[in-house]
Amino acid sequence: MLYSIIVTGGLENIAREELAERFEDTGHLKIIGRKPQRILFQYSGNPRDLLSLRTAEHLFLVIKQLPKMTRSRRSLTALSRSLARFNFGEAFACCRQVGIRVRKRITFRVTSRLAGQRNFRRLDLQRVVERALLERGWHNTGTGAALDVWAEVHGDDGYISIRLSPIEMAQRPYKQAHIPASLKPTLAYSMVRLSQPRPNDVFLDAMCGAGTLLLERAFAGRYRYLIGGDVSTEALAATVANFGRKHQPRQFFHWDAQNLPLQPKTVDKIVCNLPFGETVGNASQLATLYQKCLREYQTVLKPSGKMVLLTSQRTLLDSLLKQQRALKIAQRVTVNVRGKRAWIYVIRNLQHTLRV
Ligand SMILES: C[S@@+](CC[C@H](N)C(=O)[O-])C[C@H]1O[C@@H](n2cnc3c(N)ncnc32)[C@H](O)[C@@H]1O
Repeated sequence: MLYSIIVTGGLENIAREELAERFEDTGHLKIIGRKPQRILFQYSGNPRDLLSLRTAEHLFLVIKQLPKMTRSRRSLTALSRSLARFNFGEAFACCRQVGIRVRKRITFRVTSRLAGQRNFRRLDLQRVVERALLERGWHNTGTGAALDVWAEVHGDDGYISIRLSPIEMAQRPYKQAHIPASLKPTLAYSMVRLSQPRPNDVFLDAMCGAGTLLLERAFAGRYRYLIGGDVSTEALAATVANFGRKHQPRQFFHWDAQNLPLQPKTVDKIVCNLPFGETVGNASQLATLYQKCLREYQTVLKPSGKMVLLTSQRTLLDSLLKQQRALKIAQRVTVNVRGKRAWIYVIRNLQHTLRV
């Protein structure tokens, strides 16, 4: 069966890696392609397994892939005809495996998305799919329908899919307390992944907000110690609430990340979502904050340690890193954060190589 996962723009490679790492050894997986915000793959195992992917926002069963949709309205007629003949037997079996109840009276709703220049509108696409399914005797009930059918056109590619994931796939049960500008768990997981988690990691997020990065690290496998801190007591309270009693050993601090009460060279991984400047007064205050934090991070990081930092302030971070000979950018990933361009920096500490 052909599936797709939808991911945050910029995280496609990380999602592909997660998919391969989790399922390639099973012999059930064949990755077909990577498109913007989407990974297409065949999987012959139980689709229920795929619901645990931590980078995915949605999981779909692709029932029709139309690789060369033209701009003309005629491509909609072709799409409608193909749905009229489609045998849904296997698709329904797949839906049942993830717990979707497909009864004799089939209820559906259609969600449509259109990107790129076309001689038809998004609503035309939606109506064509709705009509084709109504003609098969299905019932368009809107909210509460058993089947959420997605009709999408991105560039030349058209897809008709059934959403297999519940709406909360990308949410996490641990995230009960929230703060403004809290990270999406899928993005937090991706950052944790880029830090290459190891069982011996002492892991630090010095601006932990609601604790999303720390919790994603906790779920990513064994670690030696988790350390979190924040200047805001509300944020810290959210972290404490989201952790509950689980995930020991860990310690949380009410601190200013510009002055960390930690011993030098004691932390293996620092993963942090730096303030984007929306709440920090002005550009010079933000520059000072970044400069001082970076100095502290470098001090507490072990000589072979690694930082993964998220920022929308690329020019500022680039210029600060240029001044630090011991910090080397190993990777920079452009990512969409709440509709804004941001960058994940993977930074290696080269202190041990420079001191010889
Ligand atoms: C963008 S949020 C981080 C969100 C967090 N990653 C999450 O998912 O919830 C930035 C956090 O940095 C904290 N912060 C800002 N300046 C700080 C400082 N100087 N020291 C420590 N924390 C700071 C804020 O209180 C806020 O909780």
